Amino acid sequence: MANIKSLTGMQDLYDDGDMKNLSSKLFEVEKRIKDIFINYKFQEIRTPVLEDANLFIRSVGSSSDIVNKEIYSFNDRNDKALAMRPEGTASVIRSIIEKKLELSTHKLWYLGPMWRYERPQKGRYRQFNQAGVEILGIPEGFPEYEMISIICSIIQDFDLKNCVIKINHLGTKENKESFCQALVNFLEPFKKELNEKDQERLEKNPLRILDSKSSETQSILKNSPSIKDFVDESSIDLLNSLKNEFSDLCNIEIDHKLVRGLDYYSGFVFEAISSELGAQDSFLGGGRYDYLCSQLGGKEMPAIGMAIGLERFSEIVSLKNNQKKLVSFIIQTSNLEPKAYKIAHHLRSLNKDIVLDISLSEGSLKSKMRKANKNNADFAIILGEEELNNKSVVIKPLKDELKEQQAVSIDDLYSFYKAL
Ligand code: HAM
Repeated sequence: MANIKSLTGMQDLYDDGDMKNLSSKLFEVEKRIKDIFINYKFQEIRTPVLEDANLFIRSVGSSSDIVNKEIYSFNDRNDKALAMRPEGTASVIRSIIEKKLELSTHKLWYLGPMWRYERPQKGRYRQFNQAGVEILGIPEGFPEYEMISIICSIIQDFDLKNCVIKINHLGTKENKESFCQALVNFLEPFKKELNEKDQERLEKNPLRILDSKSSETQSILKNSPSIKDFVDESSIDLLNSLKNEFSDLCNIEIDHKLVRGLDYYSGFVFEAISSELGAQDSFLGGGRYDYLCSQLGGKEMPAIGMAIGLERFSEIVSLKNNQKKLVSFIIQTSNLEPKAYKIAHHLRSLNKDIVLDISLSEGSLKSKMRKANKNNADFAIILGEEELNNKSVVIKPLKDELKEQQAVSIDDLYSFYKAL
């Protein structure tokens, strides 16, 4: 019988502690990003990964690529159309409406897998992980600064090089609509020169043409109307102010062609890109979406948020291997295990900064020592029959050849371990 394999575009992640591996980096990145969110007083929200498919059709938008061709949806046993979430924002708003929490303010964070049926390639998976934040209930102003500040903190914390935060302002709903109309009027005479995908965008979602990867389309767009001529002065002032305040911390660029691929955005939008990523160069994206809550049946609630693509982010960070000391506890005969586990239990409670690895497998002292060295352990604690009869253990330094191993009493082991 053929082996069952994982699905295309979906991967298993293993943490082997080696920070050269993408999976191990991803676990470490998750921990550190979570800490940054908590430092900014965001609170965690966990929503189900499966939702009513209509949630995404009504929020992300029926003209977006995500809903058009990338959504993982299927009918359940009751013939209800469900979808694996392609992103986190819509679910957060659904939850706020359901709990009738639209009238208070919230700062929320989430982290978890998302699904999009894309053509898999480097940096583009069918199951991938996002860490995101949403600030709910506060109109344009302070939250924009908080958002750029948290992005700069993340970029600085990981010492990311070669990245740029692109920012733009789509104006009010009316501004966005007038600009969209002007863009369509401009592009109509060039319709035949556009490729099939951009022709389709012209019909369904003209703003997305600005993101086109086609060089022909981009050269046509050189003389197209610019959003900056359709938005209020205050929108341009906000972009300039954000750039002025944070440019000393991170590379910030105003890009009037940035539109974002989800329909719910209004006002301020942004993306962070890295030149180290290749074609899929955006590792973070977000913006304001003041109308989404009312669009989904709730009260009006201004909102802004962003999400980081953790696989892409992990690709561009360099991390050092864990600096914590490692001690290998080696048991020579299996009948000593109960005693050894009790000693190890006490040791772990004495010093939480040390990783204590107790050998679980059978094998000779020699093979266990070889494994401890391979794991780069700092010390080995060896417990044999003779040692236990004398209520002692052997401590063997593994990184300093000049230091001799020594037999110590269990009480002295506890003091030694606490002081490590
Ligand atoms: P998004 O731009 O669609 O925004 O996704 C955010 C990030 O997720 C992207 O910048 C990218 O790094 C990563 N990403 C997207 N698709 C894939 C994929 N197929 N494989 C790997 N990584 C991927 C959102 O999802 C919005 N919900 C962000 C937001 C929050 N806006 C307001 N609040």
